[in-house]
Amino acid sequence: MTLRVSVFGTGYLGATHAAGMAELGHDVVGVDIDAAKVATLARGEVPFFEPGLPELISKHVATGRLRFTTDAREAADADVHFIGVGTPQKKGESAADLRFVDAVIDGLAPLLKRPTVILGKSTVPVGTAARLAARVRELAPAGDAVDLGWNPEFLREGFGVEDTLRPDRLVLGIDKNHPGRIEEMARIVYADAIGRGTPFLVTDLATAELVKVSANAFLATKISFINAIAEICDATGADVMELADAIGYDERIGRKFLGAGLGFGGGCLPKDIRAFMARAGELGVNQALAFLHEVDAVNMRRRDHVVDMAARELGGKVVGRPIAVLGAAFKPNSDDVRDSPALDVAGRLHLMGADVRVYDPEAMKNAAAAWPTLHFADGMEDAVSGTELVIVATEWREFKNADPVRLAQVAARSVVIDGRNCLDAEAWTNAGWVYRGMGRHSQ
Ligand code: UDX
Repeated sequence: MTLRVSVFGTGYLGATHAAGMAELGHDVVGVDIDAAKVATLARGEVPFFEPGLPELISKHVATGRLRFTTDAREAADADVHFIGVGTPQKKGESAADLRFVDAVIDGLAPLLKRPTVILGKSTVPVGTAARLAARVRELAPAGDAVDLGWNPEFLREGFGVEDTLRPDRLVLGIDKNHPGRIEEMARIVYADAIGRGTPFLVTDLATAELVKVSANAFLATKISFINAIAEICDATGADVMELADAIGYDERIGRKFLGAGLGFGGGCLPKDIRAFMARAGELGVNQALAFLHEVDAVNMRRRDHVVDMAARELGGKVVGRPIAVLGAAFKPNSDDVRDSPALDVAGRLHLMGADVRVYDPEAMKNAAAAWPTLHFADGMEDAVSGTELVIVATEWREFKNADPVRLAQVAARSVVIDGRNCLDAEAWTNAGWVYRGMGRHSQ
């Protein structure tokens, strides 16, 4: 059954969700306050890098199932309104900044004159949905006939299309005293995935909000756990990759997200664990999440560790020394540099006076906007040419597949720090490189 769907926010989450909804057969309008972004999307183009998304957007802009606008009134008649705007970290604080979510509700609610369902997808502090549900009822002409549920989104950048069309699970939070038609509408929206047997969990609002932040906190904890063990490996000469393989065979542990290296970044994990801790503090249970401070600290220490390693490899004299940093995005298959460990390391070495050359296959534009004073190279070989140290900071396939023999010919000194443990250490060593991994024998 085709529904009229609106999606507020057209960033990584909103644009991908809007395109996914159109692919499922719904009639979709994406709404954003950013006129330039809306104009780009309306032409069937995508203003950021997300594999598979340009094809999907252009396909459905052409079929007419997907439109974009800056005018919320064009979305007023939708059967289901999704909220997918950002909830960034507040400047100078740990808490989440909810101004974009609040602005959507304040703009949309007065337009709602008939029974409607609003489904929030943004990651929000627990308690937000109940507050917004009350506000909507107060502001909407349809009053009690507008129902708000929370339907957290788990998509990973780089796999956004796949995660939207074939999610691991669907979670829907509803106010059990005011269920309205939320579950019924969500079952229609997601009929395709539910029909394929995707677990569909209906909870209360608070649980749904917490599922999302708990999942991200768990993933962050897993990464920091292995990075803490990498520190022990460095102190003992053990190898964290062999160790991760060995513990990962235990199904209760699993090998995924045990990749030791520069740690996590991006627009979600770092700010979500901080916002989660801030919310726990407000709720008077800050001790419950005290361990997340350590998760954050271990993660930030990875960046210090790589900067220290670089300085050590250069004999303590960094000023004026040419260093190639391969990678600027927070992870491969993304052009996102928000809280990127790669760009942080490049920037710190640059501030220490090193002659840093950065190359990334997709994130150069965003990296240059974030760090205009950094030097950006035209390609991997250009970046490495004449340098005394190479740091692989994002595990792009281009870097993993690089020919170490060729790169050794253009580098001034063959020393590589593999900040993501993604290179073939043996091949690089055989090509004459001094190879330094993260928590590996090669230290
Ligand atoms: C994450 C969650 O995975 C997703 O479910 C949620 O909706 C949003 O936040 P994303 O930020 O796109 O998604 O990236 P993810 O693939 O989870 O990686 C996060 C960071 O962890 C990256 O910086 C990555 O390099 C790092 N990472 C991941 C590691 O350092 N080691 C690992 O083993 C895995």
